[in-house]
Amino acid sequence: MRDKLKGGTVAGRVLVTGHNGYVGSVLVPCLLEAGWEVTGMDSRYFSRCTLVAGLAETTPVSKDIRDLEPADLHGFDAVVHLAALSNDPIGNLNAGWTEEINFRASARLAELAKAAGVRRFVFSSSCIMYGMSEANVVTEESPLAPSTEYARSKVKSERAIGQLAGEGFSPTFLRNGTIYGLSPRMRFDTVFNDLMGAAVTRGSVVVHSDGKPWRPVVHVQDVARAFLAVLEAPEADVHNQAFNTGADHLNHQIIELAEIAVKTVPGCELEVQSRPGADQRTYRTDFGKFARVFPDFEFRGTRDGARDLYEALRASGITRETFADKRFTRLRWLSYLLDSGQLDTTLRWTNGKRQANHD
Ligand SMILES: NC(=O)c1ccc[n+]([C@@H]2O[C@H](COP(=O)([O-])OP(=O)(O)OC[C@H]3O[C@@H](n4cnc5c(N)ncnc54)[C@H](O)[C@@H]3O)[C@@H](O)[C@H]2O)c1
Repeated sequence: MRDKLKGGTVAGRVLVTGHNGYVGSVLVPCLLEAGWEVTGMDSRYFSRCTLVAGLAETTPVSKDIRDLEPADLHGFDAVVHLAALSNDPIGNLNAGWTEEINFRASARLAELAKAAGVRRFVFSSSCIMYGMSEANVVTEESPLAPSTEYARSKVKSERAIGQLAGEGFSPTFLRNGTIYGLSPRMRFDTVFNDLMGAAVTRGSVVVHSDGKPWRPVVHVQDVARAFLAVLEAPEADVHNQAFNTGADHLNHQIIELAEIAVKTVPGCELEVQSRPGADQRTYRTDFGKFARVFPDFEFRGTRDGARDLYEALRASGITRETFADKRFTRLRWLSYLLDSGQLDTTLRWTNGKRQANHD
């Protein structure tokens, strides 16, 4: 990779897969600002799911990562790999799609990147792979207990990509907690975005469990900065390493997140509806390794992040209808594209590039 030079020289050329999604549309401006030349590659499932302005200009490639060709990887210094079916419910809809896209295509992407001489490869992984951990607190060394197709796809991808590590190919795995915060391609199907969206638009927050499960949360801007920090770190510090991305103060029980949402939004009320069968997955995450390798990196506190999100949502003029709109729940939007025949049963656009190019 070229050294980062001041004075207008590019930091390097990076391919960002999934640049059109929730994290990608925040990451791309961050990389551009830091002097990276960015090419985005995305199947553009969510191109019509924009909540607020702020999408950066990139060199976009409308492409499904399952259809990659060796030439697609030529000329890059780094790959940041975000493209995926990004949660459990989509994995439950059709396990084969998650296996194909999240695992097989990811492993092939890494093989092609290595063959093309791309040195750095940063994979967007997830703390979900710790599952219902028996451990009180999970570190990167804790046993993995993936209990869903989505979580298994992250475990298998890390293993396959890690096996390619060596001279000239340096992968890093960022295991994110649940991400929240404003993005042009907003999602309201992650826990804290959902709670905050409900608080702002309905004036009430409902918790469908006893609220005891732990979740690490992390602000989307901090996730973007973490990807950048890894890209620019000395290779020896991050070579074939997994990092839980966040800080110890970002571990919260769901009930605490709900309380933060309620306290942040004036006049908001909290309702707890314990239901059998509610999501009881729980894990508390140790972030010591990230802090040791990136001692100057600060993650914003959840109360500050909640305030940012409250102000941003208010400024966007969001209504109850918009909050409930299928465009901001990944499973519902994909189901709509399938049911209306815009995507076929392999999750490819039925009318080729025309639909995919519709923004
Ligand atoms: N959002 C979170 O809370 C969270 C937490 C942990 C990990 N992650 C991971 O971070 C990454 C980004 O998540 P996100 O929240 O931005 O998800 P997202 O669904 O908003 O974005 C994913 C992007 O990938 C694209 N994509 C999906 N399948 C593709 C394919 N076959 N070919 C090309 N592009 C494809 C989609 O069109 C979309 O733009 C994912 O890998 C996700 O698993 C997210």
